[in-house]
Amino acid sequence: MDSILVRGNGALSGAIPIAGAKNACLTLMPATLLSDEPLTLTNAPRLSDIRTMTQLLQSLGAEVASLQDGLVLALSSHSITNFKADYEIVRKMRASILVLGPMLARYGEATVSLPGGCAIGARPVDLHIAGLRAMGAEIDIDGGYMVARAPKGLKGARYTFPKVSVGATENLMIAAALAKGTTVLDNAAREPEIANLAECLSAMGVPVGGIGTETLTIEGVTSFKPIEHAVIPDRIETGTYAMAVAMTAGDVELIGGQVDLIDTVAASLRAAGVTLENTENGMRVHRTNGALHGVDVMTEPFPGFPTDLQAQMMALMTRAEGASMITETIFESRFMHVPELARMGANVTIHHQSALVRGVPKLRGAEVMATDLRASVSLAIAALSAEGDTMLHRVYHLDRGFERLEEKLSACGADIERLKG
Ligand code: UD1
Repeated sequence: MDSILVRGNGALSGAIPIAGAKNACLTLMPATLLSDEPLTLTNAPRLSDIRTMTQLLQSLGAEVASLQDGLVLALSSHSITNFKADYEIVRKMRASILVLGPMLARYGEATVSLPGGCAIGARPVDLHIAGLRAMGAEIDIDGGYMVARAPKGLKGARYTFPKVSVGATENLMIAAALAKGTTVLDNAAREPEIANLAECLSAMGVPVGGIGTETLTIEGVTSFKPIEHAVIPDRIETGTYAMAVAMTAGDVELIGGQVDLIDTVAASLRAAGVTLENTENGMRVHRTNGALHGVDVMTEPFPGFPTDLQAQMMALMTRAEGASMITETIFESRFMHVPELARMGANVTIHHQSALVRGVPKLRGAEVMATDLRASVSLAIAALSAEGDTMLHRVYHLDRGFERLEEKLSACGADIERLKG
């Protein structure tokens, strides 16, 4: 397994291109399963999770061509021959469950392994199952697989999510596109990736109402249009680099980054003393004068503070003047970065769902272990401002979600290199 060596060396300055959103691309790709019509996705990120979804779709019989060095994905599903998403692929990535809805809607059957993914809590799939059952599916769990059937096809239904779930909202939206009649989803997730999917379905010819609200209405259709659709910029990558810049008191333009995709995060960063402003090509982040201030943050479904930026925010707060209370409400074990940050000298106390971070004047480089995707990058951010060398082990998680991290940071003056395992 590769490692990353970071020598803390001060302010980042320059420009960083922001890639397409991993989480948007992962939900758009399975929409190919709805019909024979070609689906072309532009602005795709070059990440191992995208390769895993490619592999999964190909294992079902879909064609997925990666063009223009992976920036464009050409998908088509005219010859689906296999209705089983195998454990070997699904265990690598939880988003694999998103093939369940469209397969079931189109073919009336699908068998999907229960997913793996990041080790950040139980992450059940009950909402996906309950929602599809409300649409007429019969689903059993057998041998670690969800075995789903809808012999008479799926029917539109009204379903209220008892808890907001991004993945379950997406799965039901895609399934509803091919269900008979109208589906109304209440308490649906409102993440920008959901709006990106809704716009993709609309372009395919599926009437979708309530985009951006917590009630989505989807009219099932029987035929689809071939389309080309752009993946939105990655707001998690944007927020991560904004925090890296803030951490090193740097000044960087995030090309393609959009402040309006990270409003809540931007508000927290501004309160901490960071400046964010729109530019012609994206946004500029700088902290050129003054200290960082401790700010309290609580993760919540969109438009709240994203759980996927919690670890990075904590890394930043380890160097703030004063204290910061960071509360995680989405996942139950998402503080695995804390003992690793402590190895670098951070002062963090966990109490139930909250972490009290008392800022320290400096962090020191150490050997640390990447645990999940976002935790790994939080350690890289901490390392950029630490004194001495940090060796980040087990970085395969990073490659799931961050495209060319070392290259992007090096271009802004960071001393960072990958050591092949
Ligand atoms: C997606 C994102 C992930 C992000 C998360 C929350 C993708 C590919 N991944 O994950 O990066 O951290 O949203 O913003 O888009 N839950 C249930 N039952 C279910 C489904 C979920 O109880 O059937 C719970 C989960 O355990 C979790 C919460 O609901 O506590 C939110 O999970 P969910 O929004 O579904 O996350 P994902 O879609 O898996």
